[in-house]
Amino acid sequence: MVLFYSASGNTRYIAKQLANNIGDECLDLLQRIRTNDFSEIRSERPFVICSPIHVSNIPLFLTEYFKRVKLVGNRQIYFVVTSGGYAGPVDYFISKLTKVISMDYMGHAEFIMPSNHVISNSYPATDPDDCRKRISESDKKISAVAETIKNGRKLNSPAVKLWEKMLVPPIVYSWNKFGTSAKGFHTSDKCVSCGKCSKVCPLNNIRTENKHPVWGKNCAHCMACISNCPADAVEYAKTTQGKERYNIKKYVNNELL
Ligand SMILES: Cc1cc2nc3c(=O)[nH]c(=O)nc-3n(C[C@H](O)[C@H](O)[C@H](O)COP(=O)(O)O)c2cc1C
Repeated sequence: MVLFYSASGNTRYIAKQLANNIGDECLDLLQRIRTNDFSEIRSERPFVICSPIHVSNIPLFLTEYFKRVKLVGNRQIYFVVTSGGYAGPVDYFISKLTKVISMDYMGHAEFIMPSNHVISNSYPATDPDDCRKRISESDKKISAVAETIKNGRKLNSPAVKLWEKMLVPPIVYSWNKFGTSAKGFHTSDKCVSCGKCSKVCPLNNIRTENKHPVWGKNCAHCMACISNCPADAVEYAKTTQGKERYNIKKYVNNELL
């Protein structure tokens, strides 16, 4: 069974195509994560977890979710991550996680997709031509990854370098602890009070006051609110003003999502 979380659609797209190719079910974890639903998930076939990369790791809320949910049936677990180009030592983090949850780790594959991290000043948004190129390169890779999974072989995870193992974990820890404040999030007068931002927040962190969204303290900076706003009304401090938002819907047909 393919399980996924996706903020701006990249991981959803890869997960759906993979599930089609493998001929297996595909489950969006958003509602389960939002509602702290840790009820068991059963699959007789290997689990394939699809996740975006957040600072060289899978999102902390997804790690926490997998520590609490019961995966029942098949003990093999694959990971498929989508990144903006650098997944760092993610293999180190997910292989550790699979040990904690007593699953048999079958390796991971990385798909380089457009970056959705529009609130960052450090990473420029992927330009539209490059977005199309990355998506089409990923399309070419899907069948090979699906074939490996179908045949029960291990995915060839990229090696983790020693310096990455030593330097990246403290960065990931600090970012999760101090780097995900929601303080900068607000809406401009373009807000149409549709409530979409609140519905797509995996941490259920956006409430409505006087018909407008208000962000609480529990934010993961996943970009779901800003990427899915139909009016481009969600802003982060001043960094997003006038910046193009990313959502894969701008590039692929809805029936593939
Ligand atoms: C908070 C955050 C941190 C990110 N960190 C990285 C990173 O370390 N390396 C990278 O290549 N891409 C990074 N990205 C880009 C995403 O991994 C990439 O765009 C991903 O495909 C988004 O998937 P989604 O649309 O399914 O949410 C980051 C994105 C966010 C929101």
